[in-house]
Amino acid sequence: AIPVIIDTDPGIDDALALMLAVASPELDLLAVTTVGGNTGLAHTTENALRLMHLLGRDDVPVAAGADVPLVRRDSAPDPNTHGEDGFGGVRLDPAPRGVDARSAVQLMVDVIEGSAEPVTLIALGPLTNVAVLIAAFPDVAAKLERIVLMGGGARVIGNMTPAAEFNIWYDPDAAARVFAAGIPVTMVGLDVTHFALTAPDDWDGLRGGGPVAQAVLGMVEFYTAYHLAMSGNPSTAQHDSLAVAAVIQPSLVTTRSLYVDVECAGALTRGMTVVDVDNVAKAAPNADVALEVDADAFNRLLVSRVAELDAR
Ligand code: BDR
Ligand code: CA
Repeated sequence: AIPVIIDTDPGIDDALALMLAVASPELDLLAVTTVGGNTGLAHTTENALRLMHLLGRDDVPVAAGADVPLVRRDSAPDPNTHGEDGFGGVRLDPAPRGVDARSAVQLMVDVIEGSAEPVTLIALGPLTNVAVLIAAFPDVAAKLERIVLMGGGARVIGNMTPAAEFNIWYDPDAAARVFAAGIPVTMVGLDVTHFALTAPDDWDGLRGGGPVAQAVLGMVEFYTAYHLAMSGNPSTAQHDSLAVAAVIQPSLVTTRSLYVDVECAGALTRGMTVVDVDNVAKAAPNADVALEVDADAFNRLLVSRVAELDAR
């Protein structure tokens, strides 16, 4: 199995992504690290602990990282998307354990150094922790197999501003450092995650199911209401699950090796990933950018794997 660390800000689609990871034998989930983003760090950390408990994985260490971006001071969670608590009001039982005593970055270091195989770091929130890892422990970060991140978009596309996707928008300075680090990066952005949809009735098989199924249904209900209000479409974008799925089954996304930088200052475009699709800058590519997705195969993978969790 591929050893992975998931850095995340749960978050409803983060929760489903963690479920997909736990349900998938292709992955060996070694650690979960948390970051502020969809909601504050206290909530994202508590949510990660409770979710791992729900999934019977209290053995996976959960450590807390950054609550605020590296530089930016005007980013804030959007409670409409995931609720104040991050899980759309779905209350999970408290975990019997607390958060790991180590910082998120120290846990990443310990796991990367301790793994016989190179670790894949899957980043599902703002990239603050990942940037700190790279800055403070460059030699350790260089041992990563790759970073697979949900964020950005290859064209002018956004969900926070017309040009910026939430995770990059929240901490653009961190994202810029991650793309510039020389570590292999796979970017799973809105070009593909906007098609990584589940419809409400995709989850019908979970009705009457166990506690995991109930949690999924509750979160999807909240997330559906948000999507309906935003776009008039009840289908929900499972952004973060697609990043996990791209590690489980890389052929789900078609990528191109391209040069990516991040706008950290622009008045209209702060937090935009600037992707040199036509190689105008003649810069060496620094990321494999997902441009197409097999949306049906992704949907089947996510729904079927999550549906198996209660039986484990
Ligand atoms: C990203 O932002 C958050 O709302 C989601 O959890 C996802 O990581 C999508 O732009
Ligand atoms: Ca997220």
